[in-house]
Amino acid sequence: MKKILVWDLPVRLTHWLLAVLVLGAFALANLASDESVVFALHAIAGLIALFVIALRSVWGVVGTRWARFRAWPLRPSALVRYLRGVFSDRASEAGVGHNPATSWFALAVFVGIAGLGVTGFLAARGNEAAEEVHELLAWSVIGLVALHVAGVLLHVARRRENLVATMITGRRAGAEVDGIPSARAGVASVFLVLAVAFGALLLSGLDVRQRRLALPLIGTPLALGESEREDASKRSTSGDAGAASASDETRADDHDDDDEDDD
Ligand code: HEM
Ligand code: HEM
Repeated sequence: MKKILVWDLPVRLTHWLLAVLVLGAFALANLASDESVVFALHAIAGLIALFVIALRSVWGVVGTRWARFRAWPLRPSALVRYLRGVFSDRASEAGVGHNPATSWFALAVFVGIAGLGVTGFLAARGNEAAEEVHELLAWSVIGLVALHVAGVLLHVARRRENLVATMITGRRAGAEVDGIPSARAGVASVFLVLAVAFGALLLSGLDVRQRRLALPLIGTPLALGESEREDASKRSTSGDAGAASASDETRADDHDDDDEDDD
C-alpha cells in the first residue's frame, strides 16, 4: 500500500512540544531543589504545555481530517475490542487515524495536564492539599506516558509498522482517499511562534531572586519556592496589613540592591 499523509504539521509539532515540555517539567521538578530557580522553570514548562493543549484543542475542531476530535474512536466498546486484538493475534481494525487506545490516552493526558496547571497554580498560592494532588497527578501523567510509549513500541514490534516515524514524517501506509491534501505548515509556524511568545511572556514575569512568577494578563503572583510560599500563606492569613508590609519589604529589598549597585 502507498504511504499517505495522515498527520499534519500542527499535530506533529504539538505532539513533540508536549512530550518535551511534560518530560522536562517532570525532570526539573524532581531534580531541582524546590528553593532553586530551576524548580520555577518546571512551572513555566507546565504552563506552556497547557497553552499547547489549548492550541491543539482548537485544531481538534478546525484542523485536518484525522486531527479532528470527531475522527477519534472514543466509544468504550471500540477500546475493549482494540485491546483484545492487541493481546490476541487478530489484525487491528483501526484505520489510519488514531487507534482507540491513543485516543483515550490523548484525552486523559490533556485532562491530566490541565489538572496539573490548576493544582500547580493553587499549590503556588499556598494550598497544601493541592500540592499533594499535584504530585500524585504528575506521577499519574508520567505513568500514562510510560504506557503510551510501551503501546507504541509494542505496535512497532508486533505489527511491523514504525509508528514513531509516522509521528515524525506524518505518513503511513493507507488508501489514497484517506490521505490529507496538505501538511498545513503555515498553521504550524503560527502555533510555534505563539508557543515561543507565550513562553517568553512567562519568563519576563519571573522574578529570579524571589522565585515569584507574575502570570501574564491577570498578573497574579505565584510563589514558586517553598519558603516564599510559606511567607505568602502567612501574609494571606494576616490580612491587608501583612500585604502592605510585604510590599514595603520588597521595596526595601529593591533599595538595598540599588545601594549595592552604587558600590
Ligand atoms: C510526555 C510524553 C508524551 C506525550 C504527552 C504524548 C502525547 C501524545 C498525544 C496527545 C497523542 C495524540 C496526538 C494528537 O492527535 O495530537 C500522541 C500520539 C502518538 N505518540 Fe505520543 N506522547 C508522548 C511521548 C511519545 C514518545 C516518546 C513517542 C515515541 C516513542 C510517542 C509516539 C506517539 C505516536 C506514534 C503517536 C500516534 C499514535 C497513533 O498512531 O495513534 N509519544 N502522543
Ligand atoms: C506538566 C506539568 C507539570 C509537572 C509534570 C509537574 C510536576 C511536579 C512534581 C513531580 C512535583 C513534586 C516535586 C517534589 O517536591 O518532589 C511538583 C511540585 C510543584 N509544582 Fe509542578 N508540575 C507541573 C506543572 C506545574 C505548574 C503549571 C505549576 C504552577 C503554576 C506548578 C507548581 C508546583 C508547585 C508550587 C509544587 C510544590 C513544590 C514543593 O513540593 O515544594 N507545577 N510538580
